[in-house]
Amino acid sequence: MGKVVLGVAVGVAVAACAVAALVVGRRVRSRKKWKRVVGVLKELEESCETTVGRLRQVVDAMAVEMHAGLASEGGSKLKMLLTFVDDLPSGSEKGIFYALDLGGTNFRVLRVELGGQRSDLDPDVVQQPIPEQLMTGKSEDLFDFIASSLYQFVEKGNDSVQSLVTKELGFTFSFPVKQTSVSSGVLIKWTKAFAIKDMVGKEVAGALQQALDRKGLNMRVAVLVNDTVGTLALGHYHDADTVAAVIIGTGTNACYWERTDAIIKCQGLLTTSGGLVVNMEWGNFWSSHLPRTSYDIKLDAESPNPNDQGFEKMISGMYLGDIVRRVILRMSEQSDIFGPVSSSLYLPFALRMPAMAAMHGDDSPELMEVARILNDVLDIPDVPLKARKLVVKICDVVTRRAARLAAAGIVGILKKIGRDGSGGITGGRSRSDIKMRRTVVAVEGSLYTQCTMFREYLHEALHEILGEDIARHVVINVTEDGSGTGAALLAASHSSSGSVDNIQPV
Ligand code: BGC
Repeated sequence: MGKVVLGVAVGVAVAACAVAALVVGRRVRSRKKWKRVVGVLKELEESCETTVGRLRQVVDAMAVEMHAGLASEGGSKLKMLLTFVDDLPSGSEKGIFYALDLGGTNFRVLRVELGGQRSDLDPDVVQQPIPEQLMTGKSEDLFDFIASSLYQFVEKGNDSVQSLVTKELGFTFSFPVKQTSVSSGVLIKWTKAFAIKDMVGKEVAGALQQALDRKGLNMRVAVLVNDTVGTLALGHYHDADTVAAVIIGTGTNACYWERTDAIIKCQGLLTTSGGLVVNMEWGNFWSSHLPRTSYDIKLDAESPNPNDQGFEKMISGMYLGDIVRRVILRMSEQSDIFGPVSSSLYLPFALRMPAMAAMHGDDSPELMEVARILNDVLDIPDVPLKARKLVVKICDVVTRRAARLAAAGIVGILKKIGRDGSGGITGGRSRSDIKMRRTVVAVEGSLYTQCTMFREYLHEALHEILGEDIARHVVINVTEDGSGTGAALLAASHSSSGSVDNIQPV
């Protein structure tokens, strides 16, 4: 009997030890996995680091590349494209003008009534998403779709479709275009999600004009502008101190007002104003000072345009969600904190900017929005709170880097035009010697306007780079629908002033 009791006791003890060992083993393994995941996050944070020192290097590189791009054709990855816009709207524009705004996820048609005096503009606007198949199909189909949308818009409004008076149209086309005049230009390449092969190298305004004619619309494409240029036009209309415009949405880019004598690649360029708007196409900016991660490298390699739009791929709304997806995938592959690896994590662009911004902005204690998006968008159910916190942190690191790099880009422009308080790229004057002028930068784009954290990080970085004394002279102004409304304004100013003819590239 004694032996039996002893045997049972030993058995129980062994079983207890085995269970304890199992529990401890599991804990050790799960701690190890957690450590691995934290390691992935740490590595991400380190490789995304944007110290002020690094941002200043990016500022300098941006200003240097701007010079190089203005010095010769192909002198830099920054194309520094001439826009032939040598005059910005003054407020005296009068009449009814239409605009089409194509370039992001949505397409807009606008009608603006201008009263000849600067006032708050209240354009009629309709917006619709571009069907995905049109972004990669045939150019004629895309332009016919645009012309039909305009036709329906005019029909519903107060104007007659086949009006006897030709209406002037501003066309915002947010891709790199080599302009041949203010109203014509050739597409250099597509960016973002567009890839219509037969359009590259073709005349853009001409293609639209033909579609308008096919539809029987009595309209003339008066100006062909980039969205940054439209934004600058509206920004300047409201505030004459506006010297540059930046878009941070699906894609990113900037334009600014440049003195014609600084545009060396077009020597002898004459404009009545002595200046010209330059479309930088900063999405293609590159510098070894940019903090690049292994995720950026993979994203670029797997994109339809590798080695292209490097700055854009770190900053704009089209790509940020995909960087976050790649980080979550790596974590998921290295541990089971997200459960079995979800197949959705392998889908390029499965996580888009609005969902990512919503996770980033989730301030509920249980992060229920994060849980919902992980479940609904990435098919990852039942994620524990501490893993949800990790996801928010990833969104934060990626967003913060993007915003701070965009701020460095803006200061790069200010430096180029001598508005950063340093006396310009060659200036050696001390900051206290310099009398700063009020400098306004117009900004548009969903990432900037809809993501509070992005905005805050960008402003914080501007202050860090410039210092408080200089930063208080720099104003960031959000314009609304500027890319489209600005095109209508430019259609107005160019239809009456005829300033296009005053530009003489020699
Ligand atoms: C295009 C630019 C455009 C920017 C913002 C970029 O991908 O190359 O022309 O201004 O997106 O829409």
